Amino acid sequence: MKNFRKLILLCAGFLVMMGIISSSGKAFQHEDSLKGKFSYKDFESAKKCGSCHQGIYQQWTQAMMSQAYTHHWDEIEYFDLAVAHSEVKPELKGPVDGCNGCHTPFAFMGGTLPPPRPSEKSMANESVSCDVCHLVKSAQADPPFNFSYLIEPGVTKFAVRKPTVESPAHKIVTSDFYKTTEFCGNCHNEKNPFGIWVKSTQLEWKEGPYSKEGVRCQDCHMPKGGPYLNAIMTKPYDDSRLHLFHGAHDPGKVRGTIELRIEPDIREAEPGENVIFKVALFNQKTGHKFPTGSVEDRIAWLNVEATDSKGKKYHLPVDKKGFEGEEYTISGDYLAYQDMGVPLRQPGFTGVQRDGIPYGNRIFRMPYFDPEGRMTIMQWNTASLGTDYRIGPRETKVEKFTFKLPYDIAPGELKVTAVLNYQLLVKPVADFLKVPADESEIKIVNEHSTAINILP
Ligand code: HEC
Ligand code: HEC
Ligand code: HEC
Ligand code: HEC
Ligand code: HEC
Repeated sequence: MKNFRKLILLCAGFLVMMGIISSSGKAFQHEDSLKGKFSYKDFESAKKCGSCHQGIYQQWTQAMMSQAYTHHWDEIEYFDLAVAHSEVKPELKGPVDGCNGCHTPFAFMGGTLPPPRPSEKSMANESVSCDVCHLVKSAQADPPFNFSYLIEPGVTKFAVRKPTVESPAHKIVTSDFYKTTEFCGNCHNEKNPFGIWVKSTQLEWKEGPYSKEGVRCQDCHMPKGGPYLNAIMTKPYDDSRLHLFHGAHDPGKVRGTIELRIEPDIREAEPGENVIFKVALFNQKTGHKFPTGSVEDRIAWLNVEATDSKGKKYHLPVDKKGFEGEEYTISGDYLAYQDMGVPLRQPGFTGVQRDGIPYGNRIFRMPYFDPEGRMTIMQWNTASLGTDYRIGPRETKVEKFTFKLPYDIAPGELKVTAVLNYQLLVKPVADFLKVPADESEIKIVNEHSTAINILP
């Protein structure tokens, strides 16, 4: 057995030397195979599909899929950070072109790179369009990652459903691939030039409880919504899949993702005594970790506050657990994201605040580190990942807050409230890069309160 492993390692080493696989273990072939392979005219616009698939088209225009190239933060990060970075470091050109392999596949396969800005209204604005998905035959990598979809333009579209009526616009071939999570994993898993998994939503799903139960991405993000007329000319189906693709940008999807309960260890206490509050956070809604996807941008944090009978408020810092890397999970006064200075051509840039929230709060996140070990939001510049302190599917995390009651606390009821907040993009970064406010707006995931009696 040992010798066998040695042999495998030797062979792998040889392949690396020969340049067949990169030292990060990543096969690059599929990533280059699509670039410039087709032209724009090989693909049809979503609007055209929408003339017959009216409802699905309307759903898609409201989902991030239709804005993957045009959304403000995507435009800012792609042009001001990623493209600018590749101008300073030419070896980044390949990976930065690769952003488009997921965000605007038509442009990647048939346009100039970088594509025209969204304001120029080119075909790049189609983003993740109908034809991007419905011309896909399979995944070219296992596990799928980095736009590993095998795609073939033409009048043949693929789907799970066998049509009742024949469409005048296309042929349909049924394919079970559309039932799999690998279909989504083609774009929802990503490995960067350092060989780091900077996005692993499908992999998280696979190792979590929902894969065992056969609850797939489609079941939560494309729910069955019949009876629904998926095209003109045909009949409504009871099990039609809605193209909602609602995720972190939908406050309703995020709301209630984590359930909170807070309880004290005693119900009556005197000033000067210690009271311990415990908060249980149960992830009852996501099929992957929370947060997932653009983990480098996202934070969820727990704020606990006590209010005495006279209305005086006390902010309770979380008790430390003592695990490695814990400093990244408790908010404080730290500067980070200094690597943005390189693409922005600001030498000596000292960074911005790491968290931008009240100090001492528990943060559920996984930090991304640049080659110099500083926190980064530039996923392509991530050389290592820190402690993963996100909340897994159906996982419960428990946090403790020891409150030494001040001597001047008012007697009577002390109300203690725990709130879990969520932000798509840490605010100091959003403000610094002038990203419109909706991307750093605070969304409340959930809250719960308890009370104790303060004796005079
Ligand atoms: C991100 C990939 C993706 C995009 C973008 C997408 N689809 Fe789909 N579509 C799917 C998948 C996956 C299914 C099959 C789900 C299943 O049945 O399990 C599907 C199913 C369908 C169906 C059958 C629905 C039913 O169950 O009755 C139609 C029709 C359809 N898509 C049309 C469109 C049109 C039109 C657009 C653009 C407006 C579009 N799709 C965009 C992935 C996509
Ligand atoms: C002229 C109208 C028309 C146009 C344009 C059109 N479709 Fe369709 N499409 C239909 C009809 C009709 C069906 C069959 C629906 C049925 O009976 O289930 C269908 C079926 C489908 C299905 C299989 C789901 C099913 O219910 O059978 C998919 C996927 C699909 N179309 C995708 C697309 C895409 C992608 C485009 C744009 C590139 C497009 N369609 C453009 C009319 C159209
Ligand atoms: C059991 C239901 C469920 C399943 C299964 C599921 N999701 Fe989700 N997903 C959610 C919920 C709820 C949210 C909103 C909370 C959040 O942002 O994580 C979400 C959010 C997301 C987001 C945005 C996350 C972020 O933090 O930016 C993406 C992307 C996503 N899901 C993709 C997927 C993919 C791909 C799969 C399959 C591999 C999948 N989901 C499976 C429930 C599910
Ligand atoms: C061709 C690549 C591609 C495929 C295939 C794909 N996605 Fe996505 N998806 C994206 C991109 C890119 C975004 C990010 C849009 C943005 O810029 O915010 C996204 C966004 C999402 C979001 C919204 C997240 C949010 O922050 O609100 C959900 C949910 C999601 N995808 C689910 C799925 C599911 C489920 C599947 C499989 C049925 C799938 N995706 C297949 C590329 C893809
Ligand atoms: C393997 C596919 C893939 C590649 C390659 C990729 N992305 Fe993404 N990107 C996604 C998906 C999927 C999401 C949505 C994840 C989520 O919602 O959490 C996303 C989200 C984002 C977001 C956050 C959008 C928001 O509103 O929160 C930005 C910005 C972004 N990507 C920029 C880039 C840049 C710049 C590159 C290249 C350096 C890149 N992406 C490469 C798939 C990809």
